[in-house]
Amino acid sequence: MKKLYIRTFGCQMNEADSDEMALAFHQAGFAPCDTLSQADAVLVNTCSVREHAEHRAVSYIGRLRLWKERKPGRTVVVAGCAAQRLGRKLKIQFPHVDIVAGAKSIEEFPSLLTSRGITDAPIPLEGESGTASPCAFVTAMRGCSHACSYCIVPSVRGPAKSLPAEQVLASAEAKASLGAKEITLLGQTVNAYKDGDTTFPKLLLGVARLKGVERVRFMSPHPVYMNLEFADALASEPKLARHIHLPVQAGSDRMLSLMKRGYTRAGYLEKIRLLKTAVPDVAISTDFIVGYPTETEEDFAQTLSLVREAGFSFAYCFKYSPREGTESAALGEGLVPEEAAQQRLNRLLETVREESRRAASAYAGREIEILFENARSGRTSQNYWAACESGARPGEMRKAFVTGVEEMSLKARILP
Ligand code: 5AD
Ligand code: SF4
Repeated sequence: MKKLYIRTFGCQMNEADSDEMALAFHQAGFAPCDTLSQADAVLVNTCSVREHAEHRAVSYIGRLRLWKERKPGRTVVVAGCAAQRLGRKLKIQFPHVDIVAGAKSIEEFPSLLTSRGITDAPIPLEGESGTASPCAFVTAMRGCSHACSYCIVPSVRGPAKSLPAEQVLASAEAKASLGAKEITLLGQTVNAYKDGDTTFPKLLLGVARLKGVERVRFMSPHPVYMNLEFADALASEPKLARHIHLPVQAGSDRMLSLMKRGYTRAGYLEKIRLLKTAVPDVAISTDFIVGYPTETEEDFAQTLSLVREAGFSFAYCFKYSPREGTESAALGEGLVPEEAAQQRLNRLLETVREESRRAASAYAGREIEILFENARSGRTSQNYWAACESGARPGEMRKAFVTGVEEMSLKARILP
């Protein structure tokens, strides 16, 4: 039996795509393995969202040349966003790459393997012992139909497409029957989901009602689709996690407009109000980009003040990275000097850290529910890590009492 090693760069969407491609490899007779040295084939799933991410993936591919030469018959497959963006250039730069399968062609991946003769004796799927983790990802949407000026995603993943609701529910049900307790629905603008009458809130409620499902999360929604129907669904179904990762990107209206985000600072804060009114204990986290072209100190001050005003539980902060083919890279003007951008990033990280600590400290002395991912820790509905000596099995949901807060994670004691 041949063996496949997978190296995934980038977001959860890529993790889910890797799982899907692993299944295609499985059907082609490849069993997964944990180390590159054991493998007959390697699948590199790449990310292109920032230059740094793409660079890491590309240099990993470069290092595979020696691995391939060490044993005849080895196969290198490169997939994902950078594969889509660089296409044939990858094969020219790295002749040891056998197959380049861009992110847009994920649905054709199984037939691609067959047509390229990547097959061995098929391995039956029966007998698998269930998912290792109690948390599973399910793709609900692919692609993105927005055109944020800095973003490469629409060009490498194509326009937004909602998968049929039946397919999404069946996939979630299959994962739940294998032991998943938490399902995360994925899509680049996942809350824009629509299939006939099935809106995103309806889809979430459908997943929450599946047998075995204890908690439902999703990544990543876009603020413009946050509406009353969603807020009502959240309020009505406690299995929907009390955490929403809602990327804002910047705090100044001038930046938001240049970025083509489709909302203002006040509009974004209004969405948070809507959510917090429906579910007061909801935690909101976000993404920021600093140093977008022409960003001034005044614009940046608005980002810092938004962190203080919105009460985010957490934020991922990125330095602007020009991506070839995007609107902002084409402008090529007003670039913020590297040193200033780095300094702003550091200031933002510090402010985010202070605010996240403050938000986490509000849980001290409170009762929480932990979904254990291993014997000693798990996550709360608000997506905080909680450490707790419990003897619980992975996948068990237990009530606990918060005895302390460290940085952004909680320490807890199981309630009898
Ligand atoms: N530069 C920096 N950050 C970016 N992101 C997307 N494109 C870029 C870019 N060109 C960030 C956004 C997005 C997250 C996934 O990556 O914050 O929400
Ligand atoms: Fe990129 Fe904007 Fe689409 Fe998000 S919504 S994937 S940032 S274009």
